[in-house]
Amino acid sequence: MTRQYLVAGNWKMNGSLKANAELLSGIAAQAATVADVELMVCPPSVYLDSVGRALSAGVALGAQNLSEQAKPGAFTGEVHGTMLVEFGCRYVLVGHSERRALYGETDQRVAEKYQTAQTLGLIPVLCIGETLEERESGATELVLSRQLDAVLDRCGIASFQSAVVAYEPVWAIGTGKTASREQAQAAHAFLRGLLAGRDAKIAGSTRLLYGGSCRPDNAHELFSCADIDGGLIGGASLKASDFLAIAAAAQSLSKA
Ligand code: PGA
Repeated sequence: MTRQYLVAGNWKMNGSLKANAELLSGIAAQAATVADVELMVCPPSVYLDSVGRALSAGVALGAQNLSEQAKPGAFTGEVHGTMLVEFGCRYVLVGHSERRALYGETDQRVAEKYQTAQTLGLIPVLCIGETLEERESGATELVLSRQLDAVLDRCGIASFQSAVVAYEPVWAIGTGKTASREQAQAAHAFLRGLLAGRDAKIAGSTRLLYGGSCRPDNAHELFSCADIDGGLIGGASLKASDFLAIAAAAQSLSKA
């Protein structure tokens, strides 16, 4: 089954009006050369409006987080999904490892966020991955299934018809230590197998992204794996030329 590559930039807590404008104009200048790849940028929420207005055609807007609350209300500091929709977001990251590790997001909370996002018409990008300690103790598959099952059990396999999963080994995020082709493909195949255990057709069409020190020099190798359908890019998404070089790797592998 052919799945369109998705290359998403997670800007994390970086950016300024000036830096964003430069980055977006750099992306706009080259976006046509990677026309078969879906591009997405996820700026900090205060920049969603200005970034959304400046985006070139074919580049989707995503948020980095949303409240799990079903309705807006007295939740100081939180951003509701209806607000993200109003500002043109198509996607939203849920359960990024930094949210899990630094802000105490549990599997349960992540599943609630995923559900709220979908209910409001956003496509959740469910981030999952093991820590180095978990990998070294042989618990990778256990952790991946626990994180995925929390969402499957709450929202069902049908919800994965309009969702993206990002496998991001925590030890590879921002460390310069990328998962090898074999490690990445094994984890992706495992995740697709878990989805297929519930519904093979849906599993075949769900996009699975790799994230964790993905760069221009390793993107082609990673994206050529059978079960890798693109990348969630942190550091390298802050430089237009790097982000586009990663997208170009996906473009060269596109069957479209
Ligand atoms: P990185 O981050 O590409 O800087 O490792 C990826 C991510 O956190 O999504």
